[in-house]
Amino acid sequence: MQLNPAFPAVDPIPLPAPIWLLKLLYIVTLALHFVAVEMLLGGLLLAVLLSLFRRSPASMVTARALARRLTVVMTFVINLAVPPLLFAQVLYGRALYTSSVLIGLYWISIIGLLMLTYWLLYQFSARLEAGRSAWWIGLIAWLLAGSIARLLSTNMTLMLRPEVWRQMYSASAAGRFLPTGDPTLEPRWLLMLAGGLFIGGLWMVYLAARSTFTAEEKQFVAGIGGKVAAVFGIVYLAAGLWAAHVQPEVVKAGLAGHGIYSFYKFAGFAGYGWLALVAVAVLLGAVAGFAKIAAGWLAWAAVLVAVLTEIMFTVYRDGVRDLILLSKGYDVWNRVVVTNWSVVLLFLALFVAGLGVIAWLVSVVARAKKVMEGAATL
Ligand code: HEM
Repeated sequence: MQLNPAFPAVDPIPLPAPIWLLKLLYIVTLALHFVAVEMLLGGLLLAVLLSLFRRSPASMVTARALARRLTVVMTFVINLAVPPLLFAQVLYGRALYTSSVLIGLYWISIIGLLMLTYWLLYQFSARLEAGRSAWWIGLIAWLLAGSIARLLSTNMTLMLRPEVWRQMYSASAAGRFLPTGDPTLEPRWLLMLAGGLFIGGLWMVYLAARSTFTAEEKQFVAGIGGKVAAVFGIVYLAAGLWAAHVQPEVVKAGLAGHGIYSFYKFAGFAGYGWLALVAVAVLLGAVAGFAKIAAGWLAWAAVLVAVLTEIMFTVYRDGVRDLILLSKGYDVWNRVVVTNWSVVLLFLALFVAGLGVIAWLVSVVARAKKVMEGAATL
């Protein structure tokens, strides 16, 4: 396949690590970014709805419990976003830099939108703690987070369309226009939004088992969370099937075929893995939701299924991108690699040490004195 001439020339500096390693690190870190993003998008909307329709004291306690955690979740959204961004730039720079420049004005606005969302999350939580009306602040934060997601989906789909780059650049060199006419954008964005409520529901199934809720609150949290996970798991499945259906033929054929050891085939299997895991999560959600069970085993099963679902989704999504780029002559596996092992080993050591520090932080939080969620803090 001939390389589409819109791709800029390859950087003469070779890659400093094997492509499989860069891809592995990219997929692991991006999947964790997605878990955090979905917790933010779903958890925030659930907290807004619970505080808007304050049906019972338990609904306000739950809204506050979610809101309190969202500012922390946001730190994970951002910190787990930087590593995959760096790996994506190394592997797909010629496509990703080009599309980022083409929507430059919007792309750079993400920084401002992000800061505003973050600030609003603190306002949302503080107002809930003070017993003041807060749902509208949370809603604005959710709309902003949803538009950040939209811009990311826009860029990640535009990077796959070198055929429209030249015309977009002629229309504006200042990055003033957003692309149009891509049938994959809408389902892809909606998939992430539906995934938010799905993962948000599973997050509540996890929270329901915390000892900081009273027995009555636990039942409430498990009941709502489980039902939301079950219902939006089905919506998530439907959106996923839609997103897969609108992919070009070359992707569908590629994910089903190729040699036995090909990454593309592996990504195709990950798609089935994703389907199976979401189905399992729907069942888990239904059990927790309708029987109102708040149990440790359900909590950890929900966490496990949520993380595995996002890993499968990320692998599948990566296969889709690689196949589209390949059909336009861009083979991500075809790069000059001169591995700098000392740097790679140093990176891996720091990566493991970083994970260790996070584990230690989590253990400190877990050992901290417990305050009941319903206790007034202001
Ligand atoms: C509220 C904040 C954020 C939200 C809601 C969000 C949401 C998303 C969504 C929906 C996608 C998937 C897009 C698609 O493929 O259709 C995505 C991918 C991604 N996001 Fe985020 N994101 C946020 C913040 C960030 C930040 C601050 C960064 C960078 C520092 C970032 C880096 C990335 C990267 C690298 C990808 C994947 C790129 C790839 O496909 O290689 N995100 N994000």
